[in-house]
Amino acid sequence: MTSGSQVLVRPARNVRGSVVLPGDKSISHRYAMLAGVASGLSRLENYSTGADCASTLACMRALGAGWEQKENVIEVQGSGLSLAAPTRALDCGNSGSTMRMLSGIVAAQNFTSEMVGDESLSRRPMERVIKPLTAMGAQISSQQGKPPLRITGAQLKAIDYKIPVASAQVKSCLLFAGLFADGETRIEEPLRTRDHGEVALRAFGAQLERKSLGAGSEVRIRGGQSLRGVEARIPGDLSSAAFFLCAAALFPESQLAIPHLLMNPTRARLLDVLMQMGLRISVTQLDQVNGEMVGSLQIQGGELKGITIAGADSAALIDEIPVLAAIAPYTEQGIEVRDAKELRVKESDRIAAVATNLRRMGATVDEREDGLRIPGQQALHGAEIDSFSDHRIAMAFAIAALRADGETLIQGAEAAAISHPAFFQALEEVAER
Ligand code: S3P
Repeated sequence: MTSGSQVLVRPARNVRGSVVLPGDKSISHRYAMLAGVASGLSRLENYSTGADCASTLACMRALGAGWEQKENVIEVQGSGLSLAAPTRALDCGNSGSTMRMLSGIVAAQNFTSEMVGDESLSRRPMERVIKPLTAMGAQISSQQGKPPLRITGAQLKAIDYKIPVASAQVKSCLLFAGLFADGETRIEEPLRTRDHGEVALRAFGAQLERKSLGAGSEVRIRGGQSLRGVEARIPGDLSSAAFFLCAAALFPESQLAIPHLLMNPTRARLLDVLMQMGLRISVTQLDQVNGEMVGSLQIQGGELKGITIAGADSAALIDEIPVLAAIAPYTEQGIEVRDAKELRVKESDRIAAVATNLRRMGATVDEREDGLRIPGQQALHGAEIDSFSDHRIAMAFAIAALRADGETLIQGAEAAAISHPAFFQALEEVAER
C-alpha cells in the first residue's frame, strides 16, 4: 500500500469498525512542557505518537528535563521552574505549537536559546508571540518575524494583553510566560479558543481565573506559582478523529466506534457540525480526567447535508476545515467557509491546497481570500494529490478518495506522521470495499 512517500487510496463502499486514536496533540505538547517545569515526576500515558509531539519532548530534553518512554507512558522528570541552557538550537521540526508555546517558557529563563524549524515552520509568522514576550522583557530576534528565533530570557514582567487574532497557541504561550512573571498577567482573546493550556495549568497545580467576555474570554494568572507533576492518561485526539468521522459521513451504512476520545467543549464543535450535516453520533462513558472531558463515540452514517462555517465556528474548527472541505462536493448543498484566513498560514496554505487538490479530482471550487465555496452534488474522480508536506492535507484527501471514482495517489503521504503515524493503516482497517 505505501511506497516511499506515496499512498494509493482505493474507493470504499462503507466504513465499519473501531479506531483507537493517538493521544491529543494539543494536550500532549502542553503536558510535556509543563511536566518539564514542574517539580517531581509526571507520568503521561497515551502521549501523542505524532512527530510534532516528539519535537516537543526532544526540546524539553535539550533544556534539561529528562524523560523516558516505558511502553505507552512517557515519564518526565521535572526540572522545576529553572531549565538548563541548551547546547544547540532547539529543533521544533514542523511544529508551530512547539515553537510558539515553548517560547513563553524559554523567554523566562536566564539563558539564550535558539529555536529553529523545518522549511514549512520557517515560513510561519512568529510576531504574534515575539511582540507580547518582548513587552514582558525578553529579547527576541527573528528573520522579519519568522524563525529562527533567538530568545534571551529575562525576569519577565506581567502583561495585560489583548490577543489580536484568536490563537490558542499564543494564549498558552503567554500564560506559560505569566507563570514566571512578576505580578498578575491578564490575557484577553477575541474569540474563545481551545482551553487546554488553562486546564493543564490547573492540573499541574496552578491557580488561574477565567471569565467569558462576549464571544471571547479573559484569563488571569499570578506569577511565581510552582507546579507539581501529574499522572495523566491523555484522551484520543479529536482532530485526528475528524478524518474518520468524515469518512463515516460519506456512507449512509457506516458504523464506527471511537473509544476514549477527547470531548473538551472548546474542541467538540466538530461533532455538532457533523450531526447537523446528518451523521448520527452518540456519546457514552462520559468522564473527566485531569479537567478534560473524555467519552466514547458510536457513529452511524446518514444524510450528508451542506453547511456554512463562519465567524467563531471558523476559529473553533480551524484544524478540521480541510477535511470538511474535502468532502464538501459529496454533500447535498455544498460547504461554504468564511473568516478562516488563518488557514493560509498553517503548515501549508490550506485554502490553496484544498482548492488545488479538489480541482485535480474534478471539482468546481470558488477560492476566496478567507475561505472557500464548494458546491455540492459533484462527482469526483481519483487523481494525483499533493500533500504540500502538510499532514492534514494528506489525510483530508485520503478521505475524499474513498468516494471518488477510481484510485487516488497521495504524494507526500508521509506528512500524516506529524500527527498520526498509523493513519493509513487505521483507515485501511475500517474502509470496506
Ligand atoms: C493549536 C492551536 C491552533 C491549531 C493547532 C494547535 C493548539 O493553532 O491550528 O493545530 O494546540 O493550541 P492557532 O492557535 O495558531 O490557531
